[in-house]
Amino acid sequence: MNKNTAYPVLVIDDEETIRRLLTKELGNENREVMAAATGEEAMAMIRSNWFDVIVMDLLLPDVSDLDLLIRVKEAVPHVEIIMITGHGDIDTAVEAMKLGAYDFIRKPFNLDRLDLMVEKAHQRVQLQRENAILRHRTTSEKEVKFIGNSRAVRDIKFLIDKVAPEKIPVLITGESGSGKDVVARLIHERSSCSDKPMIIKNCATLQKELARSELFGHVKGSFTGGTENREGLLAFAHNSTLFLDEIGDLPIDVQASLLRALETQTYRRVGEKEERCVNIRFLFATNKNLADEVSRGQFNEALFHRINAFHIQMPPIHERREDLPLLVDYFLTTLHPDKPTCRIVKDAMDCMMRYSWPGNVRELRNVIERSIILSENNIITERCMPKEIAAGTEDNEDSFSLEDAEKKHVLKVLDFYSGNRRKTAEALGIGRKTLYRKLSSYLM
Ligand SMILES: Nc1ncnc2c1ncn2[C@@H]1O[C@H](COP(=O)(O)OP(=O)(O)O)[C@@H](O)[C@H]1O
Ligand SMILES: [Mg+2]
Repeated sequence: MNKNTAYPVLVIDDEETIRRLLTKELGNENREVMAAATGEEAMAMIRSNWFDVIVMDLLLPDVSDLDLLIRVKEAVPHVEIIMITGHGDIDTAVEAMKLGAYDFIRKPFNLDRLDLMVEKAHQRVQLQRENAILRHRTTSEKEVKFIGNSRAVRDIKFLIDKVAPEKIPVLITGESGSGKDVVARLIHERSSCSDKPMIIKNCATLQKELARSELFGHVKGSFTGGTENREGLLAFAHNSTLFLDEIGDLPIDVQASLLRALETQTYRRVGEKEERCVNIRFLFATNKNLADEVSRGQFNEALFHRINAFHIQMPPIHERREDLPLLVDYFLTTLHPDKPTCRIVKDAMDCMMRYSWPGNVRELRNVIERSIILSENNIITERCMPKEIAAGTEDNEDSFSLEDAEKKHVLKVLDFYSGNRRKTAEALGIGRKTLYRKLSSYLM
């Protein structure tokens, strides 16, 4: 939402004097006040405008008691509603709160109090909106799978199970694409706060000047551009997990404050003296060597020791090649769930087993995704692979057996006829059944 545009407030009251008073007094440069005299008029305005806050008289001539409140909440659930009540209707006011009204104010009312109420109600709408966005961002990828059965992966799974229920911060290191996010998600999923969304922030995307405010929040006027109070990521992560990715890129001047938050579970918003308490499980990831960063003066040493207390190191894929077939299988079955599962010829698999995978599992996933698209008749050959991976086979040409030569020839002809087996069999001068038998013997 554009922070510079005024937010609209709707006043619903059958008394013209009140409508005029509130339109004038509640309106300012941040707020635009509109008014409706009846329930029907209000509903029509609500359908064609976007309101965040509504101030409404409890007693309206054309609707009974709380009907309008219920209808508004149904139509626009995000809206916060402040009820204006008369002297005798405290019970109805309480009922209104139960139905989801934000607050109520009694007539004759203090305008300053109402003004503050409207402001707070609006802040709440904004906070909930931001929260919803974050929640959406973090829970879009549902179930996390950590595939692998190598010694290294089994050890990591053991560590995850042990550390997940604890409050201790965890540092996950490893090359890009090696599965650091996967591990962070698993830890959160198996922690006691798994019912809450994990908040994820990539520190490399933090603007240096705004990093402190993004993490801790700020109060209005604390710096140029800070035109209103804002909560930071720590507030959003309260009672849940905060995953700070690329922690090595966190601006150094914010690092001491983060250390304090880790050690005491308290923080201050920018421009505010008051300390706030939080309850946050911290996870960190980086592909940098933080010890090196410390010795180069690029990373706060105390923070390093604090977050390094529990360390999970992701091995690159070339150090655990036995996981490759499992990962390939996993991606073949999950990447295009709507298509029949592709099979992969042994030579293509051999290429992948020999390749060094500098981009680790992420690269493998992309290669499989591409190969599935390029596959013919759901069979993946070396030809479906990027050159740098398929190239490995030519270099390793060490077989002169008739069997291998035949295989190469058969696959070449199959490729020539774009996977058409009838034409391939005809061209080779063999029966289709024989071709099928040969092809299936070439698969893994
Ligand atoms: N062991 C694994 N099992 C299944 N998928 C994995 C595994 N490791 C990585 N991935 C997948 O590979 C991609 C890159 O992993 P990610 O965790 O984002 O790497 P990193 O954070 O280390 O750069 C993601 O799509 C992730 O789901
Ligand atoms: Mg990552």
